[in-house]
Amino acid sequence: IHLVGLDIPKRVYIVACGTSYHAGLVSKRLLEQIAHIPTEVHIASEFLYDQPLIGDKPLFIFISQSGETADSRGVLDKIKKQGYPTLAVTNVQGSTLYREADFKLLTHAGPEIAVASTKAYTAQIAVMALLAIHLANVQGLQSPVDMFRELRTISTAMEALIEKKALARQIAHEYLTGKHSCFFIGRLQDYAVCLEGALKLKEISYIQAEGYAGGELKHGPIALIEEGTPVFVLITDSRIAKNIRSNAEEVRSRGANTCIIAVEGLDHQGDAWVLPRVHPLLTPLVSVIPFQLIAYYA
Ligand code: BG6
Repeated sequence: IHLVGLDIPKRVYIVACGTSYHAGLVSKRLLEQIAHIPTEVHIASEFLYDQPLIGDKPLFIFISQSGETADSRGVLDKIKKQGYPTLAVTNVQGSTLYREADFKLLTHAGPEIAVASTKAYTAQIAVMALLAIHLANVQGLQSPVDMFRELRTISTAMEALIEKKALARQIAHEYLTGKHSCFFIGRLQDYAVCLEGALKLKEISYIQAEGYAGGELKHGPIALIEEGTPVFVLITDSRIAKNIRSNAEEVRSRGANTCIIAVEGLDHQGDAWVLPRVHPLLTPLVSVIPFQLIAYYA
């Protein structure tokens, strides 16, 4: 950890690509709800040509498994020239982002085995959770979560989920055999995880997959739902459990084949996969695993 001398920022700008961008979307909530720091998340290739107005005391956080992605490096270059502080969250010690950022955090996910990022995503979220706790502690804020205890519990839950290979294989077979397009729908954090689920599936199976906010589906894309369209529905937040179930009902009435993945306590009979309940802020660490495995078996 190299955070010595890091001032508490008034606003955080997360910059990343692909799966790392999706980890950024989850991290925004961690930084805002644990460290109370307003956070924006930007796609590096967009930021390069369209820099937003930068507020007072910003911190730029670059999330990148490799630490070498050209778009993220391009933004780092640009931001450094403007004199703003930068932090790299990367898996590769000695990578360009690692070397060139002012501050660095290593994700320690182990070497990359394939381009489709899985363990890097969860490690990035875990490290961002620890950063959020650090920034909360420095400000004397009480954390809403006993982070170290929770992360230990979650790692056990993740190990158990990874063993559910037969279930993932059966779901992939049942819902995706012969299919060319599908949807992943969720709300709030589940929406962020759905974006990652859809990216994983299209990246490795070449099945067209769209991640959508459950409430947005009716504003156009529902027209694409036809008889047998697979729709993966993620439900982990009690605040929106009813709403997303009614979104699932809407698509089912148009013929969709819905595969519901719900956290225990919010599950209904007939759901395809019931996830263990963990702290709501950290649920993406477990809820992404079924999607990763389903993509693998698809
Ligand atoms: C893409 C990969 O090219 O780069 C994605 O296909 C990855 O899997 C993205 O998430 C960003 O990579 P990195 O190394 O900056 O996290």
